This record gives sequence, structure tokens and C-alpha cells, in this order.
Amino acid sequence: MIPVIMAGGSGTRLWPLSRTQYPKQFLPLNAEKTMLQETVARLKQVDIVDVICNEEHRFLAAEQMRQIGQNCSVLLEPVGRNTAPAIALAALKADAKRIDAKNTDADRSASEVRSLRLSEGAKDQDQSEILLVLAADHVIEDVAAFRDAVAIAEPLAAAGKMVTFGIVPTHAETGYGYIRSSKSEDLKQSHFTVQEFVEKPDVVTAEAYVDSGDYYWNSGMFMFRADRYLEELGKFRPDILEACQAAMAGTVADMDFVRVDETAFSACPDESIDYAVMEPLCAEGSLSAEGSDSQDSSDSVVVVPLDAGWSDVGSWSALWEIKDKDANNNVAVGDTILEDTTNSFVYAGDRLVTTLGVDDLVIVDTKDALLVARKDRVQDVKKIVNQIKAAE
Ligand code: GDD
Ligand code: MG
Repeated sequence: MIPVIMAGGSGTRLWPLSRTQYPKQFLPLNAEKTMLQETVARLKQVDIVDVICNEEHRFLAAEQMRQIGQNCSVLLEPVGRNTAPAIALAALKADAKRIDAKNTDADRSASEVRSLRLSEGAKDQDQSEILLVLAADHVIEDVAAFRDAVAIAEPLAAAGKMVTFGIVPTHAETGYGYIRSSKSEDLKQSHFTVQEFVEKPDVVTAEAYVDSGDYYWNSGMFMFRADRYLEELGKFRPDILEACQAAMAGTVADMDFVRVDETAFSACPDESIDYAVMEPLCAEGSLSAEGSDSQDSSDSVVVVPLDAGWSDVGSWSALWEIKDKDANNNVAVGDTILEDTTNSFVYAGDRLVTTLGVDDLVIVDTKDALLVARKDRVQDVKKIVNQIKAAE
């Protein structure tokens, strides 16, 4: 199993702490280690991890892995094309070894191949690598529960399932994907067949989903064999697969870095795995289940429930939610004085920050930028970032 860590997001909603040069996954937002380091630290020890990130963050990624003593290979994207292509690059890289081995086998005699495999501890060369796809910017409090879920997922992925990890929703969040599992199954099962996958529904739909009690949030972590992902991507988005194949064909390896071909990758469509693969795959599955007795394609996506204190630290209010609060329900970081202040998040970077008589605010003060926002408006911080970019 290869952990594949997606670390190419821009984290704009956590501006002004998260910057283009230093996005949130490379920051220690909720622990001493950075979010990327925490992502690796919560795994059972592994020989190597694949980190996929933007070319301009290569030294950050490699240095942060070195600091925690983790061997890594860093796949570099010249431009961000979202998660469907990022995962395709990792899957193609993982599968290249198998295809190379197969091609080499084809040049050998059958007895040579057999004895070679025995000497390699009989690892099945025909079995594609299992990828554990993780986001570099999640907080997971219960590491043991996370590892248990991964252990449940691994044999399912080995058998060809596309595994998602489902979180019981607490509110009608519109920034997440929603997964409906099969109701008829025994609730005590460790995993369920997915009937429907809806990425980022509108708020009315999200409310109905949460009220129904039938849906999980998609955690944004996945487990599958590399060949299975490539097969499904090729079915629904051959344009993305072809662009990624072309980008990998022009790969240049440079120590721990793997650079893909810039021209080919720039031509790749921008799409997330959720829209490109998971939604259409689940839709196809439910259609075929209605029309026939065959469950083949309808049960190819499964959800493993995960109750592990998971949080996508997507915004300042999400960070406020998970941090310890004072008696007035405030989170204060750095040099602060809070007088008659309630339900607020106050971050002081380089100087003293004081508040008086305010409620429900987010205040983030850094060397060169200050954010003051109502806590219920922090999803729109990206609008400010867009204005800054437009003015540059
Ligand atoms: N390498 C790379 N390249 N990584 C990327 C790219 C890219 O172009 N774009 C995003 N990522 C990384 C981010 O850093 C993050 O770790 C992860 O991929 C997910 O991307 P987000 O942009 O944060 O996705 P999202 O939060 O809107 O939605 C996803 O996660 C939700 C849960 O947090 C979806 O999977 C939702 O369905 C899910 O509910
Ligand atoms: Mg996210």
C-alpha cells in the first residue's frame, strides 16, 4: 500500500495565514507539526510516501518529510489541475512499476519468471498497487480509529473496490460531498455499498440529506488499486487520463522529485476526483442495479464509516470549532488581550491584538495583512483573496 498525499491545494479560505507561497498544509495549524507532517505521522510506519504538490512547494514538502525522517517521493505539478489529475499521476507512477515488471517478464522464459518471483517473496507482480489517497490538510483526533478504518479498507481495495471513508454529518455543510449507503444492510457492518454520491450540494439539498440520516460526508480520503482508478477515470474522463499519460511520458526524475511534462499537464482539464469519477461511478451503479439483477458495477464503491474526530480545516470557523476555547468561548493564539469578547477567534502573529465588546468575530493579524470578519462569513474570505489577485 502506498500513501498518496495530496498537498496541492491553495487554502485560500485561511488567508492571511495561508498564502500562495505557504499554503495551510505546510503550516502547524492545530499541532506542533505541520498538517502535512501530521498526515504522515498518523499512518502506521511506511517505507515511503508519495506527496503530490505544486512545483513551487517542492522544498517545503521535501524538507518537512526530512524533518520527520520519512522517505518520500514528491510528484511535482507545474500547475494545479485539481485532484482527479493529481491522483491519476500517482496511479500511473505506481502502475508503471507493475507494467515495467510485466514487460520485463515478457522477455524472460516462464521458468526464469517463476524463480524470480519466488526470490522476491512471491509478491504478485500482476496485482496493482493499492493507493491510500489522503488530503494533507485534515485533522483527525483519534489515530487508532483512523488506522482501524484503513485496515478495514485495505482488503476491500485489494479486491477491486473503490473505498471512501464516511463521516456522520453534524450540519448541512455545502463544501463537502455526500454519500448515501445502502439502507438494507446491517448497521453493524464495517462497510456499506454506496448508492449515491453527491458532491457539494446546495444548502436545501444538504439540509434534506442531513435530516434524512441516510448520508455520510465524504471525508475526501480514498483507497483503491491504481489500476482500478485508472480504469474508472478512463471510462468517465478519458481526456484527463490521456493528458496525464502524456504528462507522465515526459517525466524527469531528479533525486526525490518527479517532474511531469509541463506542456502536457497544462493541457489537462481541471477537475476533482469527486466530480470526475465518484459521482458518475455511483450514478452508473444505481442505474444498472435498477435495470438488472447484476450488482457488479453498483457495488464497486463502498464506504467505511470513520468516527475519529475528523475535520477538514477549511475555514477559520472550522479551526475555531476544533480548538480548545476559553470560558467565553474564544480561541486566542499569540499575544492577545480579550475584554468582554465572546465566541471569537483571535490570532496575533507579530504584535499584541486586543478586542473589546465584540462577539462572533474572526481576527487574524499577520505581518503584512489583517483580516476582520464575522464568523459566519468566513467562507467568503476567498473573495478577498480573489480581489488581491486581481489587483496584482
Ligand atoms: N496535488 C494536488 N493538486 N493536490 C490538490 C489539488 C491539486 O491540484 N487540489 C486540491 N488538492 C488537495 C488539497 O490540498 C486537499 O488536501 C485535497 O486535495 C482536497 O482538495 P480540496 O480543494 O480541499 O477539496 P474540498 O475540500 O473542496 O473537497 C474534497 O474534500 C471534502 C472533505 O474535506 C471532496 O473530496 C469532498 O467530497 C469532501 O467532502
Ligand atoms: Mg478541503
